[in-house]
Amino acid sequence: MSTSTQVAVIIGGASGIGWATAQLMADRGDTVIIADLDGAAANARAAELGAPATGYRVQVTDEIAMRTLFDTINAEYGPIGAVVDCAGISRPGTIAELSLADWQATVDVCLTGAFLSVKEAARSLRDGGSIVLVASLNGRQPGVAMSAYCSAKAGVLMLAEVAAMELAPRGIRVNAVNPGFVHTPLTQGATLVPGLVDEYVENTPLGRAGTPEDIGQTIAFLTSDAAGWMTGAAIDLNGGAHTMRYPNIVQRIADMTTTSTTNEG
Ligand code: NAI
Repeated sequence: MSTSTQVAVIIGGASGIGWATAQLMADRGDTVIIADLDGAAANARAAELGAPATGYRVQVTDEIAMRTLFDTINAEYGPIGAVVDCAGISRPGTIAELSLADWQATVDVCLTGAFLSVKEAARSLRDGGSIVLVASLNGRQPGVAMSAYCSAKAGVLMLAEVAAMELAPRGIRVNAVNPGFVHTPLTQGATLVPGLVDEYVENTPLGRAGTPEDIGQTIAFLTSDAAGWMTGAAIDLNGGAHTMRYPNIVQRIADMTTTSTTNEG
């Protein structure tokens, strides 16, 4: 994969998909900046990569913190070549039961965070740079009890398209990736619900969950010169799961409760 060496900022880079991406981009010679809400983890990950990688704490929903982060990076490293937003959370709950606070927290991190990432990237990227937003299979496939996450991720897909149009005059490319189920700390809770991951895999033509590297490889490609004619694209990375259906989390949890009650009785 040909690419010139660049400064790459990975928001949410201290864990899961972001961390796999950071390693792949550092391996090919990028100067990787890991920015994460967990500042200690960001620093530890950067230390693992070794110089010139650096870690910073950032709250992706805080406009002033994001501006300060990008100003600091520009001052330390010069123009940025690539920005990847991997920060994400999920607060499940049916629409009837989901609190407004959980809705807002999810939309804030997943969608407003993506907006601020693009906004600050647009100020700080060199012309010809690139942005990757991590959306989700749930941006195009609904899941019961996932209204906030699905809505936010669908918004991220449209945000990437609008940003691609607006930034094209400067040669800045903006793309999105849609991971399916990937084993990371974010999805650890799902593994505790009996049968849930199995059902996901049954609905995945390639017959397995994803790895963080599966997603990181494509992000590394999208931020390289090899993707020089790609913008406004959304790439499905899910083993074909978008052709099938998403598991019903509420039904699985109900089954789990029934089973444990039956066992107790
Ligand atoms: P993860 O939990 O392993 O990593 C997310 C990282 O984002 C963490 O290091 C966390 O500290 C950071 N973060 C969370 N909130 C933040 C905030 N407000 N400001 C700054 N950093 C923050 O999760 P994972 O799985 O690597 O997720 C990465 C992205 O991929 C997320 O956007 C997620 O929605 C998306 N995704 C993940 C899927 C999966 O199955 N794991 C499937 C589809 C999409």
